[in-house]
Amino acid sequence: EQAPTGFKPDFLWGGATAANQLEGGWNLDGKGLTTAEVVKKATDRKVFSMSDVSKESIKEAIADKSDTNYPKRRGVDFYHHYKEDIALFAEMGFKSYRMSIAWPRIFPNGDDAEPNEKGLAFYDDVFDELAKYDIEPVVTLSHYEMPLHLTQKQNGWASRSTIDDFLKYTETVFKRYRDKVHYWLTFNEINSTTFGFIGSGSVDTDLSTTDEKLQLRYQALHHQFVASALAVKQGHEINSEFEIGSMLARTQTYPATPNPEDVRAAQDADQANLFYTDVQVRGEYPEYMNRFFNEHYIVLQMAPDDEQILREGKVDFLSFSYYMSTVTSNQPAGDDSVGNMTFGEKNPYLETSDWGWQIDPIGLRISLNTLWDRYRVPLFIVENGLGAVDQISEDGQIHDQYRIDYLRKHIEQMAEAVKDGVDLMGYTMWGPIDIISASTSEMSKRYGFIYVDQDDEGNGTLKRLKKDSFNWYKKVIASNGIDL
Ligand code: BG6
Repeated sequence: EQAPTGFKPDFLWGGATAANQLEGGWNLDGKGLTTAEVVKKATDRKVFSMSDVSKESIKEAIADKSDTNYPKRRGVDFYHHYKEDIALFAEMGFKSYRMSIAWPRIFPNGDDAEPNEKGLAFYDDVFDELAKYDIEPVVTLSHYEMPLHLTQKQNGWASRSTIDDFLKYTETVFKRYRDKVHYWLTFNEINSTTFGFIGSGSVDTDLSTTDEKLQLRYQALHHQFVASALAVKQGHEINSEFEIGSMLARTQTYPATPNPEDVRAAQDADQANLFYTDVQVRGEYPEYMNRFFNEHYIVLQMAPDDEQILREGKVDFLSFSYYMSTVTSNQPAGDDSVGNMTFGEKNPYLETSDWGWQIDPIGLRISLNTLWDRYRVPLFIVENGLGAVDQISEDGQIHDQYRIDYLRKHIEQMAEAVKDGVDLMGYTMWGPIDIISASTSEMSKRYGFIYVDQDDEGNGTLKRLKKDSFNWYKKVIASNGIDL
């Protein structure tokens, strides 16, 4: 078949957010605490702090009833501003909006006998509002916001019984929103689970060795793989039209030199990234992981049916986030963090964001081709964007040309990948409205087309303001990606 020359007519242009960074209303209408709401704001903007949660820090967080040290509790108050915010998305011409449901709004403790009707009603209102403007919701079922109670009771995903709690929640929302939501994602950046607390909801700071931590994290991940596969099956039984995808934090890596040792190290790093989608798209654990498991003394506890469950619960499409690329060397200079869950060396050919993330639009084209070649399922870019400090100019406007440049270059490469023959469903850039950063909980790390008047301490009117990029994106969508 001839490769298409442009984006499909029904290409899903839009933006993406997560409940815990956006909604606020953390203790309203029966909602329980999420795991994200006990992660303290980082003291250093380059540090990925979402793994450093201990039993003590959770106790401290629960005793603290304010949002001062826990900005994800306040978000940007979408809970009360959703009509205004969705109207702004509609003004830009959004075809889709990726959002997550905060699981503890529906089941405050995760193991409650009945769902919380007020939580369900809130998302009904949000979906109805989106429907008014023909914006298709793309719903992440779990985006770093498990009910905290499940951590306290059974150490989160480390426990197999969390699968049942999750499936009760997914059944509830699949049924409730059967006719309102068509696209679902199971776990946001499922690879985050092997980086610790924020993905696994499991405390492991009390374990002394790395291998012990890895044992716990890969077991937690296995439970998520099973839960995801069962949710895919459950969703299709509830509505055979549902399209349910997986979600990976894609890290494109390059060998530091043509030395075969570096090339092999980069291949290894790439497999370590693609392992997750190998399981979720192909429906089985890849052989290369056996070696990794052996070398780290990891023994996965599997129930007799698990392999069959994985085979029967393959996802319909693969979605991923893409922010940066990295470099892999056989002799790493140091454990250099270059982004969320991304480690590696500096690339002399690339510029970085103020947070040290290496900006690489061509890497997006490379990743799209790699994923398409390997899996042959539709792809969906559900996060991409630039975190930057925005200033309000004397004219009262925000001239964020740097953001426009970043997005334009990535969309250009996306168009190239489509010409290469990649089947691409859509593009929901990250954070169309400024929200709290996942990694550092800063407000000043902004991604949006829409500015929100709030500072890192939570001061501000929460007033929404259009940046220059707002009208630019509107034009991009109106021209289906031609007018960049
Ligand atoms: C991804 C997450 O890792 O990157 C989002 O799925 C997150 O939740 C995004 O916000 C950008 O990261 P940060 O740390 O700049 O907010």
